Amino acid sequence: MNHRILGKTGLKVSEIGLGAAQIGNAKIPEAQAERVLLRALDLGINFIDTAAMYGESEARIGRFISHRRDAFILATKCGDYMDAAGKIVKGYTREGILRTIDESRQKLRMDVIDIVQFHGLPGEKDDAKAAFEALLEAKSKGWTRFVGVSHDGTAAATAADQWPLDTQEFTYNILYQEADQNLMPTLQKRNMGTIIKRPISNAVWERTERHPDGFHSGPWDRAQTFPLRDLAGGMPLVEFALRFTLSHPGVCTAIIGTTNPDHMAANTRISDGRRLPDDLLQKAQNAFKENFGQ
Ligand SMILES: NC(=O)c1ccc[n+]([C@@H]2O[C@H](COP(=O)([O-])OP(=O)(O)OC[C@H]3O[C@@H](n4cnc5c(N)ncnc54)[C@H](OP(=O)(O)O)[C@@H]3O)[C@@H](O)[C@H]2O)c1
Repeated sequence: MNHRILGKTGLKVSEIGLGAAQIGNAKIPEAQAERVLLRALDLGINFIDTAAMYGESEARIGRFISHRRDAFILATKCGDYMDAAGKIVKGYTREGILRTIDESRQKLRMDVIDIVQFHGLPGEKDDAKAAFEALLEAKSKGWTRFVGVSHDGTAAATAADQWPLDTQEFTYNILYQEADQNLMPTLQKRNMGTIIKRPISNAVWERTERHPDGFHSGPWDRAQTFPLRDLAGGMPLVEFALRFTLSHPGVCTAIIGTTNPDHMAANTRISDGRRLPDDLLQKAQNAFKENFGQ
C-alpha cells in the first residue's frame, strides 16, 4: 500500500481509504461490517471516512476497531444529518454541531477524533460564521485534531478560502472531473488534505440497469456516453477508474465504499505506484470535456 501526506495535517494516509457509509446500513449484518473493518486494517488501509449521518457506521467502528486505534486515522462528519424519517436535515447551529461531535466521540469510543468535517455547507438560513466557529471550537477543545468540509464545486472552494480548514472531501473520478478545475487549485494553494469520495464513480458500469436514485443515475447517465472501455484498452474498468483517480497529483486518499472484503483486497492491489501514462490521462480529460463540456 502506498501512502501520501494529507496536506497540512502532515498525516501519512494510505492512498486507498475506506468509505464507511455502506457499512452503516443496518441491513448489513454486524459480522459482515466487522469483517470489512478488520480486513481494511489488515490490508494496510489506515484512513476511514464515516459520518454521523451513516446509520450504524460510527458505532460499528467504535465497537469493532477502536481497540486498534493506532492503526487508523478516522474522519467523521457533522452538520447535515438524517432524521428518523430518513430526510436530510441541516443542523448547523453551534449547539447542534458541538452536540453531534460529542455524540460521535461516544459512538466511536474516541476522546479525540482525527478529522471532523461539515457534511455539506451551512444553508442560507444558517449563521455560517457561527457554524464554522463551532467547528473550530471543537478543534480548540481537543475533540478533533483537524477540521474540514465535505462538499463539491465552487462553494467548497470559497469555504476553503474563507476558513482555516485542514481538509476537504469531494468528488473526483473519471466521469466527474470538475474538481480538477473548480476546486483542486484552491486546495493545492492552501496545502489542504484532499479526501476523494466516489473515487470509482460508484462502479456504475458493474450494474446491469439504471438505478432510479439521483446518486447512482447521474454516473450511470454519464457512463452511457463516455468512452470508458476505449480508454481503458482492456484494463478492467474498476482498475482503470481507480488508477485514473490516483494518477492526479492533488489526490491524497481515495475512499472507496464497499461491503465486500474481496473487492477491498482487489482495490488495494492497485496501489502499486503505477501512474497512468500522461497521454492517456490527457485523452481521458479531453473525452470528459467533449462529453460534459467542462
Ligand atoms: N457527501 C459526502 O460527504 C459523501 C457522499 C458520497 C460518498 N461519501 C463517502 O465516500 C465513500 C465512497 O463513495 P461511494 O461509496 O459513494 O462511491 P465509490 O467508492 O466510488 O463506489 C462504491 C461502490 O463501488 C463498489 N465497488 C467497490 N470496489 C469494487 C470492486 N473492486 N469491484 C466492483 N465494485 C466495487 C461498491 O460495491 P461493493 O459493496 O459490492 O464492493 C460500491 O457500490 C462513501 O463510502 C462515503 O464514506 C461522502
